Amino acid sequence: MQFRTALVSSILAATALASNSTVTSATSSSYATPSASGTATCTYSKGYTATAAADIQKIVGCSTFDGDIYIEGDAITSVNLANVEQIVGSLTVNSATQLTSFVADSLIAVSDTLTLTNLTILEDLELPRLYKVGSLQFQALPAVGVLSFTNGLEEVGSILISDTSLTNITGMVFTTADTIDINNNNDLESFEISTLKTVSTALGVTYNSEDIDVAFEDLIWANNITFRDVSSISMDNLTAVNASLGFFNTSVESIVLDNLETVGGTLSITGNSDLAEIDMSSLTSIGGAFIISNNNDLQSINGFDSLKTVGGAITFTGDFTNATLSSLSSVKGGATIESTGDLDCSAFNKLSKKGAIQGKGYKCTSPHTSVSAKASKSTSSGSSSSSDSSSSSSTSTSKAAGDIVATSFGGIFAAFALSFF
Ligand SMILES: *[C@@H]1O[C@H](CO)[C@@H](O)[C@H](O)[C@H]1NC(C)=O
Ligand SMILES: *[C@@H]1O[C@H](CO)[C@@H](O)[C@H](O)[C@H]1NC(C)=O
Ligand SMILES: *[C@@H]1O[C@H](CO)[C@@H](O)[C@H](O)[C@H]1NC(C)=O
Ligand SMILES: *[C@@H]1O[C@H](CO)[C@@H](O)[C@H](O)[C@H]1NC(C)=O
Ligand SMILES: *[C@@H]1O[C@H](CO)[C@@H](O)[C@H](O)[C@H]1NC(C)=O
Ligand SMILES: *[C@@H]1O[C@H](CO)[C@@H](O)[C@H](O)[C@H]1NC(C)=O
Ligand SMILES: *[C@@H]1O[C@H](CO)[C@@H](O)[C@H](O)[C@H]1NC(C)=O
Ligand SMILES: *[C@@H]1O[C@H](CO)[C@@H](O)[C@H](O)[C@H]1NC(C)=O
Repeated sequence: MQFRTALVSSILAATALASNSTVTSATSSSYATPSASGTATCTYSKGYTATAAADIQKIVGCSTFDGDIYIEGDAITSVNLANVEQIVGSLTVNSATQLTSFVADSLIAVSDTLTLTNLTILEDLELPRLYKVGSLQFQALPAVGVLSFTNGLEEVGSILISDTSLTNITGMVFTTADTIDINNNNDLESFEISTLKTVSTALGVTYNSEDIDVAFEDLIWANNITFRDVSSISMDNLTAVNASLGFFNTSVESIVLDNLETVGGTLSITGNSDLAEIDMSSLTSIGGAFIISNNNDLQSINGFDSLKTVGGAITFTGDFTNATLSSLSSVKGGATIESTGDLDCSAFNKLSKKGAIQGKGYKCTSPHTSVSAKASKSTSSGSSSSSDSSSSSSTSTSKAAGDIVATSFGGIFAAFALSFF
């Protein structure tokens, strides 16, 4: 245990500054707005570890802290970083089991990662002025109530908020992010970032409160989007998803993304029990698999009137009675359409017949076809008979291409410790 690693040179200066030396010589700050007003720079190139209140006191006067700060241990009950305005490095508060309050009223910027983890009784978390952070990682904070970036968090690399008791997070006003992963926050009932325009790696809101409303009104594109267990979604401006887009086990009643033009990877709409309407009327191509399955209330698969190409396989399963893809002309994979409703397969049979379904395995089954539709799988009813036959013409019970992997992607975040400085 390295307690006082680098208290070497700066200790006297820092102690003196704790009582506010009002020096006014201007140091140029490394970012424009807002700027650090203090002038005291403390440099701890090997990092600074605080395990007692006195250790915190020694750095509260550092308006700029150059180095990494670690706060940990059972002896600290509250942290007030007082005058610390920017940290050129990271700030890590981990497993401080008696910590109830963390206040950083002056903190404007953290260049690397701001981590708060395993703080089991932390209730009061105050970062009102935080404006810029490389990566924000809040994990295992089961007592914290609200998080409000009062002055507006404008720049962020990645955000992971997981296993917290947060009910609402306000003041996120950034326009771009690498990764946003909000998972397992059981009390979180709303998550919105109205300024967000692009997400370059992944956006996931998964396993939070079942009642969570999610809104990214200005989002134009994201590399990857995953929603699980959300109750409403609003992303009216979304035009492109570069990789996959997935809706799993949500309670949304409608998915309206009528500006969405392309999905580069897999589109999955699976296990959404209340879903009754999908509108993706501008969507022209799906690069990967196209999966709509087990959405109990979904009667019709329509709302895909512009869809021309599917790069993977189509898998539709459920109780739907209508599946209409009026512009579809090319499916690189196979197609498996299994309806327990009264579906007419003739349109799909026609597509298959004219070679639009290029991959291995075509199958369309429904009780509408005949009672023997099921049996025809095992027997060899290669029904190349009448073109209007809506029965199965499958050659094999192909497995759906495009594996759906929907997990909370907690693990990948460690990789994003961006530095803006
Ligand atoms: C230090 O300055 C801040 C304002 O920058 C003020 O709120 C605080 O009370 C001062 N602390 C001391 C010990 O003078
Ligand atoms: C948090 O605590 C759990 C259980 O005590 C431990 O397994 C985990 O490694 C801790 N996480 C961190 C980041 O220290
Ligand atoms: C969360 O905060 C936002 C912004 O202040 C507010 O509009 C919204 O109503 C809040 N949601 C809840 C569930 O409190
Ligand atoms: C998002 O859509 C709304 C309504 O269609 C529009 O007013 C707004 O300008 C759009 N925002 C962006 C960034 O395109
Ligand atoms: C994602 O697609 C958008 C719109 O086509 C494009 O502007 C953006 O550069 C793409 N992003 C990535 C990470 O490929
Ligand atoms: C779906 O969500 C419900 C709670 O709404 C949960 O009980 C169930 O286990 C979830 N199913 C899956 C497959 O995640
Ligand atoms: C299926 O839905 C489409 C589009 O809503 C509609 O034009 C068509 O008549 C429906 N077909 C059946 C058999 O209900
Ligand atoms: C996109 O999300 C899915 C599901 O969470 C994941 O399997 C995949 O690796 C992600 N892809 C990228 C490029 O992040």
